[in-house]
Amino acid sequence: MNIGGNTVLITGGATGIGFAFAEYFIEAGNEVVICGRREKKLIEARGKHPELHIRVCDIASDYDRRSLFDWISSGFSNLNVLVNNAGIQREINFTNGLSEFIRGENEISINLEAQIILTGLFIPLLKGNKESAIINVTSGLGFIPAARTPVYSATKAGMHAFTMALRYQLSPAGIKVFEVVPPAVDTELNPEGRAERGNYKPDIKPDEFVGAVMEGLKNDVPEIGYGSTEKLIKASRQELDTIFRQMNSRW
Ligand SMILES: NC(=O)c1ccc[n+]([C@@H]2O[C@H](COP(=O)([O-])OP(=O)(O)OC[C@H]3O[C@@H](n4cnc5c(N)ncnc54)[C@H](OP(=O)(O)O)[C@@H]3O)[C@@H](O)[C@H]2O)c1
Repeated sequence: MNIGGNTVLITGGATGIGFAFAEYFIEAGNEVVICGRREKKLIEARGKHPELHIRVCDIASDYDRRSLFDWISSGFSNLNVLVNNAGIQREINFTNGLSEFIRGENEISINLEAQIILTGLFIPLLKGNKESAIINVTSGLGFIPAARTPVYSATKAGMHAFTMALRYQLSPAGIKVFEVVPPAVDTELNPEGRAERGNYKPDIKPDEFVGAVMEGLKNDVPEIGYGSTEKLIKASRQELDTIFRQMNSRW
């Protein structure tokens, strides 16, 4: 895809991987809109890049999603790139049934349902504009589930499948569909889980990861991995099973 001259919406764009996307897209000469639930984080992001457009939005709320779409359609009608990046991660133990799942935020609503509905909402706008693209941020855990994050892994596997199908459906309309598959990146994702694992801090910074992703986008690579996920997205079923067993051996 052409990485300059677009109008780009990045969900969850105030922090982590989303914010790194925002910085790269600004640098490459795009108009960039970010959204998220915490206004403070959005304002902080705009403090670093005054040209950023910000919008408070909970993508799990149908009202917020539709308001976001109406606001974009009237103020940024040439929007041609949607980055479905917002997401949460929880560690949920199903050994005792449903109780842990229902105690916290719903990953299925945020990581899967919202992404699918937002994509559907924006497709008519993207179809009307030139050189449109959808960039879905999934995870290595969508290829190899982690036993400690079963629902998260399922939502990312779901987004992987949705992205593949969408790429096929939207190809005649000229909309490019990319899947970005992060490895472990040092962000605010799942702070409780990382604290439990001795304040685990992945080596890879969002900047480094997104820098590599931008090269993949430039070269029209449909599924973009980095580090461990570069191998994962090309692995055979047998290789995936072996890594799955190794990765989950201490669960
Ligand atoms: N970091 C990793 O190791 C890693 C690995 C694989 C995949 N990923 C994926 O990368 C994406 C970005 O995550 P990150 O690592 O950069 O973590 P992050 O810094 O926590 O970013 C997630 C962003 O999503 C926003 N968000 C969450 N729920 C939302 C909602 N309901 N409505 C609107 N915005 C929402 C958050 O903002 P608010 O809380 O203010 O809403 C936050 O800005 C996620 O999809 C994640 O699953 C990350």
